[in-house]
Amino acid sequence: MVVKAMETEVLYVKDLNANYQNIVKGAEYLKKGEVVAIPTETVYGLAADAFNENAVKKIFKVKGRPQDNPLLVHIYKLEQVYDICKDIHKDAEKVFDAFWPGSVTLIFNKKDCISDTVSAGMKTVGVRFPKSEVARAIIKESGTLLVAPSANLSGKPSTTSAEHCYNDLNGKIPCILDGGPCSIGLESTIIDMSTPDPVLLRPGAISLDDIRKVIPNLVYKKNLLSVKGNEIPKAPGMKYRHYAPDAPVTLVKGDYAKTSKWIKENANEENAVICFQEFLKDFKNYEHVYSLGSFKTLNAAAQKTFDLLRECDKLNISHIYVQAPKDSGLGNSIINRLEKASAGDVINI
Ligand code: TXA
Ligand code: MG
Repeated sequence: MVVKAMETEVLYVKDLNANYQNIVKGAEYLKKGEVVAIPTETVYGLAADAFNENAVKKIFKVKGRPQDNPLLVHIYKLEQVYDICKDIHKDAEKVFDAFWPGSVTLIFNKKDCISDTVSAGMKTVGVRFPKSEVARAIIKESGTLLVAPSANLSGKPSTTSAEHCYNDLNGKIPCILDGGPCSIGLESTIIDMSTPDPVLLRPGAISLDDIRKVIPNLVYKKNLLSVKGNEIPKAPGMKYRHYAPDAPVTLVKGDYAKTSKWIKENANEENAVICFQEFLKDFKNYEHVYSLGSFKTLNAAAQKTFDLLRECDKLNISHIYVQAPKDSGLGNSIINRLEKASAGDVINI
């Protein structure tokens, strides 16, 4: 018997009002216990009904995600955090006021309604209240709350467009909701608020400096974010090689003029080079050169990082060299992703 591959329907939802019927269609799949790729302002999510165990299990299967890696629960109104979490931190309201809805995910102790499948056996759950109105409308229409990890296959760069989702998930899920390219392009910043001093678990869309203005006692230990050997990670997802394109990545950090010079001296002209717009002129003879936009504002770099790593996957190349941004603001989050993509192949100049 020939098993027919699932047809993946791509439905356009960029305009909340004009495309509302497609939001309803996507929500119908979710109500039936199916997995649907949905847009958010950070990256696309692979969504399912948080309270349907079979649907939740499908996410792990589709992504190839290890069972010990918990899922974030996405809500569409603030009160819902109290439905699924307990022991809410005394400073939480300040954080809600400053960042919600928005690209900060908060971790609290979970109530029993959140299953061990969702939390991967942890006592806590991560709650994400997206800024994207389309994302919130999808959750609302589904009539439930949605678990959603990033919509990439495990280990691959996160997906920031419907095309990326299609490349990873075509034939594996019934529906992709296409909201256009994600406006931020990096995943949410994750803060663990289940301990007296909140801990930054993942730098992300909202910069550390902005978070510190609201949580001055935020604990940020860089070595917490990369886990070696048998250590138990705070956020289980951190122990896996991540964001990796097929070709090996070398990340080059330091003064911009010097890193550009280093790449020029070390890369072959057939290798891919990802650098800031100001240095494109150094790589005129190179076949595959991609711009991260200007280093003066890193918004474009954030939006393009995953997309460019994925572009490189379309080429038959043996190596990717990336010029690192400065390690502050969004640059800190971009470097975090690129360090993982490079599996530690980092040159400091
Ligand atoms: O921007 C985002 O956060 C996107 C969009 C789709 O909302 N979602 C996302 O999910 O990036 P995911 O699963 O790819 O990354 C969530 C990270 C993982 O590293 C996971 O291990 C960690 O958060 N995490 C989830 N629940 C946790 C918990 N209860 N305690 C500690 N870490 C947790
Ligand atoms: Mg992810």
